[in-house]
This record gives sequence, structure tokens and C-alpha cells, in this order.
Amino acid sequence: MLSNKLAQALNNQINVEAASSQVYLAMASWAEVQGLEGVASFMYEQSDEERQHMLKLVKFVNERGGHALVPQLDAPKADFGTFRDMFQELYDHELKVSASINELVHIALEERDYATHNFLQWYVAEQIEEEAQARTILDKINLIGNDKGGLYLFDRDIQQLTVNSAASDNPQ
Ligand code: FEO
Repeated sequence: MLSNKLAQALNNQINVEAASSQVYLAMASWAEVQGLEGVASFMYEQSDEERQHMLKLVKFVNERGGHALVPQLDAPKADFGTFRDMFQELYDHELKVSASINELVHIALEERDYATHNFLQWYVAEQIEEEAQARTILDKINLIGNDKGGLYLFDRDIQQLTVNSAASDNPQ
């Protein structure tokens, strides 16, 4: 059985993951309108992944005797400036998600809830991967600079990344 404090913290994380899914969906839509097909598919995929992260938490909270609450969300912004700005934002966003997961792990230990601590290790590993992926993408963007041909190749490359990550990602 979850303590009230931990149930509340897990519900907060449900909110964080749901909000992430919304933000990445807005990024996908913006990229699609800009004609960046590869970037758009990547962001649609990220949005789906965040929804899976949220669902996994919802099911866990209910399984452990809590009540997972579906949060109300603010609309994300519609315009992300340049695709470089957008990926910087994605990276910064993931750093915040990692901080939030770390806080959750800390509370699980404080509450001596080792089952939840164990459950959260999946998220700890996932955050390492997501941060590394966002950093790799930013490095690539910095290499391209303002080169149009480079952007074309980048858009194609990132589509490949989406296919690979969809094949290897299994949050269940
Ligand atoms: Fe679910 Fe990208 O953190």
C-alpha cells in the first residue's frame, strides 16, 4: 500500500509525463507545418512514449492501492522558433523530468517503499537514455549550423532514429 505522500508524488509524476506528451505533440505539429517530416515523426514518437510513461504510472498507482488522477493540463505553446531552439527545449525539458524522477526516488526511500523504489529504476534508466539522445541530437545540429543540405540530411537521419527507437522501446 502506498503512503499518502508517495501516492501524491507519483500523481505529480503522472502530471509531468502527461504534460511532456502534450509538449512533444505540439513540437511534432509545429515541425510538420515547417515541412520537417523526419523531425515531426520523431516528435510524434516521443509524444507517444511519454503517454506510455504516464500510463505505466497510472497502472502502478492503482495496483498499489492508490488512486491515479488524470490531470488538467495547460495548452503548450504553438511556435518553437527554430528547430535548434526546439531541440534545446526538449533537452532542458528532459533534465527537469530527470530531476522530478530523482525526487520521487528520494521520497520512495524516505517512505521505505522498496517496491516503488524498484519500479522507479525503469524511469531512472529511461532518463539516462533520453538525456543522451537529446544531447546527441543537439551535437549534430551544432555541426550542421545553417547549412541547408545538412538540414535535409539531418531530417532524414532523425527519421531513422525514430524507426530504431520505436523498434527497441518497450515500456511494459
Ligand atoms: Fe517520460 Fe521523457 O520523460
